[in-house]
Amino acid sequence: MKGLILSGGKGTRLRPLTHTQAKQLVPVANKPILFYGIEALVESGIKDIGIVVGETKAEIREAVGNGSRWGARIAYIEQSAPLGLAHAVKISEGYLKKDPFVMYLGDNIITGGVLPFVERFVRERPNSQILLAHVPNPSEFGVAELSKGRVVRLEEKPKKPKSDLALVGVYLFDSTIFEAVNAIKPSKRNELEITDAIQYLIRKKFNVQSHIIDGWWKDTGKLEDILEANRLVLDSKQLCIEGSVDKNSRVEFKVVVSKGASIVNSSIRGPAVIGENVRIVNSYIGPFTSIDRDVYLENVELEHSIVLQHSKIKNIRKRISDSLIGKNVVIEPSNGRPESYQFMVGDNSSFKIH
Ligand code: G1P
Repeated sequence: MKGLILSGGKGTRLRPLTHTQAKQLVPVANKPILFYGIEALVESGIKDIGIVVGETKAEIREAVGNGSRWGARIAYIEQSAPLGLAHAVKISEGYLKKDPFVMYLGDNIITGGVLPFVERFVRERPNSQILLAHVPNPSEFGVAELSKGRVVRLEEKPKKPKSDLALVGVYLFDSTIFEAVNAIKPSKRNELEITDAIQYLIRKKFNVQSHIIDGWWKDTGKLEDILEANRLVLDSKQLCIEGSVDKNSRVEFKVVVSKGASIVNSSIRGPAVIGENVRIVNSYIGPFTSIDRDVYLENVELEHSIVLQHSKIKNIRKRISDSLIGKNVVIEPSNGRPESYQFMVGDNSSFKIH
């Protein structure tokens, strides 16, 4: 069994962060989203993993490397343009050969991993196994219609969904999928849709099994989804203090204070992770917050947020919440008169100010 992780795409809904980095490398609980997928595959015994990359290939390669740190062998497969998930499968045939494989969308996080699905696939050997989850907004996904427990039809982002069962971004296939991806035509958005390829398998009476997952799953394409994923992953942490916490500080509940971090005269209420070499002075960090390495915080109150590496936030009067703050960002009051807001902000940024 091999793994195929799709890690192309432009990440338009996460701009401006994705102007400078791949959406799959945005960290959740201080770890790139993509690593959760790699780990899920490795935990289920898959060591050969192909990663399909697009425009952001250099930074993905740099962050992931050859996979040896996970005991895996990682190969990179270049997709010249984002022509769809089925197109990604098509160009990966030379890598996958006749092996069955798990296809994992690199911006998805699924708790509990994928081992039970891999085991069922290996045991029952269908041609494909798809995972489904009940969602409140099915029109934003591929949607499955079931009849007596069997998938009868799949539709990509339907205006009038036939059910609330969304296709989760983890799929298992044997090599019959190549027949399907070679037979289908591009969709209205001019992509070869994996949903159409699976629909082809159903139509040709191949064995497509479905599995409704009861665990948590998130496609992290938008800010709210990243914050939700961050909440969930942080909630599974235990108190662990490797950095320094001075006697005037309070650290309570599930808080990770990493090596080299220092907490001075501050209060941290978990779940929260504080990265390496972070310095927090006279501040309050509230639940569901991830602070990446080398961040400096002084006189701030911050909760339910993610701050990326090397940023500096100082002397802010109001509490900051529900925020995703990029790398090397500086937020501090302007000095002097008139008292005014002063910005130097990248394209597609968004601010909410009282
Ligand atoms: C893709 C698939 C969709 C699936 C979703 C899961 O959508 O096309 O069928 O439900 O992933 O994350 P995209 O995120 O590319 O819009």
